[in-house]
Amino acid sequence: MVASEATPYAKTGGLADVASALPRALVRLGHAVDVVIPRYRGITGGDRVARVAVPLGTSIADADIYAITEAGVRTLFVGHPPYFDREYLYGVGNDDYGDNAARFAFLARAALEWVAGTGERYTVVHAHDWQAGLVPLLLRHTLAGAAAFRRVPAVLTIHNLAYQGLFEASWLPRLGLEWELMHVDAIEYWGRISFLKAGIVFSSRITTVSPQYAREIQTPEFGFGFDGILRSRSADLIGILNGIDYDEWDPARDPCLPVPYGASRLDGKDAAKRLVLELVGLPADDEDRRRPLVGMISRLVDQKGFDLLAELGDELPRLDASFVLLGAGERRYEELWRNLAARHPGRIAVSIGFDEAMAHRIEAGADLFLMPSRFEPCGLNQMYSLRYGTVPVVRATGGLYDTVRNVDPATGEGTGFTFDEYSPRALLAALRRALDMYRNRPAWRRIQAAGMGQDFSWDSSARQYAELYERADNK
Ligand code: ADP
Ligand code: GLC
Repeated sequence: MVASEATPYAKTGGLADVASALPRALVRLGHAVDVVIPRYRGITGGDRVARVAVPLGTSIADADIYAITEAGVRTLFVGHPPYFDREYLYGVGNDDYGDNAARFAFLARAALEWVAGTGERYTVVHAHDWQAGLVPLLLRHTLAGAAAFRRVPAVLTIHNLAYQGLFEASWLPRLGLEWELMHVDAIEYWGRISFLKAGIVFSSRITTVSPQYAREIQTPEFGFGFDGILRSRSADLIGILNGIDYDEWDPARDPCLPVPYGASRLDGKDAAKRLVLELVGLPADDEDRRRPLVGMISRLVDQKGFDLLAELGDELPRLDASFVLLGAGERRYEELWRNLAARHPGRIAVSIGFDEAMAHRIEAGADLFLMPSRFEPCGLNQMYSLRYGTVPVVRATGGLYDTVRNVDPATGEGTGFTFDEYSPRALLAALRRALDMYRNRPAWRRIQAAGMGQDFSWDSSARQYAELYERADNK
């Protein structure tokens, strides 16, 4: 597999969880998997196992390949300090690094040079997202003649269609790609080039991370201009729901929590709530802890519904609830939430930054988890929430639609609260329904128990990938 991030080495979002957990699950099924990611700043250790020469345009640069094996999965790190020894993975603040085209073309080429040079017999190459999008193109076009790649199919997983790896066409020669690729059935996209499109066109099979998102991206509303291309590949496109890694996300054995807990004993959840409230500076005594706490852990981008929350603004603390947000991303949203917290210090707390331990504590300590996404390819936090007895309030889109069952007001059956229309009113109505239900303790317990009993382990999803690899013929 080739990806731009994988836990525990580098993470900005759910891709990292998947690029780590899926290989582990495949290994448990008896497969062997190597994962190639960049050797970013901060990744140390590992043995240097090779040096490969990576041609890029008219020049050739060396990449040192380092290896670490954990949980049966070997991760190979592409070391090239000029590209990867930087403070961030993709850019500073809202600005991408200006040479991302070269950086991720280098990753793709280095991965394949490793494959060609190592003598290992790889039976399939699986690329994730636009950062690995050139892998299928190189494999099936530029390097197609090489003996090492004969009969090796490429599979692409789209984790998020909004990120397309779009660059000026003038990059082509600098990346060593032929001008003949600059057409609508290859890498060209409205006069520019798209790494993601290259991945889609040259892969034998395409997956995305939930069945509902696989349907949605073939429509103009969710296709981001790619719906036509995806419809033309619909026979080869399948949605496989992400799993979650219960070794990392299980309240019964989560080292970040003060007291472990499970479905039969929820006291640990209250201890976590107290800890979270204290850590973020919200009132935490017995009386205060009766008020429901709404948690959010998210990249602060439009995708996640932050424009809806912005419109609601001061209406949120008028509800009988407190809010805690952990996130990083666009500055305007960071500021908006800082200001909201400053205006409502007893009710809203914000923690800007990336904090893994805090994410676990909020999952446990919150009563409700809010995810009003405009679109959501899969979403992991709602699944973590279900496991932690934290009832999700989500917009019914993509993977959220596939994983959260709206509570039926007549029977009380369901695992969360969903809304359809992308509007502040619809979001507020869903939150109100949830908060009303929260007061009915037995009903709430049933909803929590239903969520905690769901099984989103990787096993069945990994089996689906394994079957797909078997069927991925040499296209
Ligand atoms: P996406 O990949 O679109 O960001 P997902 O729900 O698939 O959304 O995955 C997000 C992952 O990143 C989760 O594991 C979540 O806990 C984590 N995460 C997001 N923001 C933060 C943050 N500020 N601090 C810690 N973890 C975060
Ligand atoms: C992307 C999507 C998210 C998905 C994750 C892992 O970042 O935005 O919905 O869960 O990838 O597949």
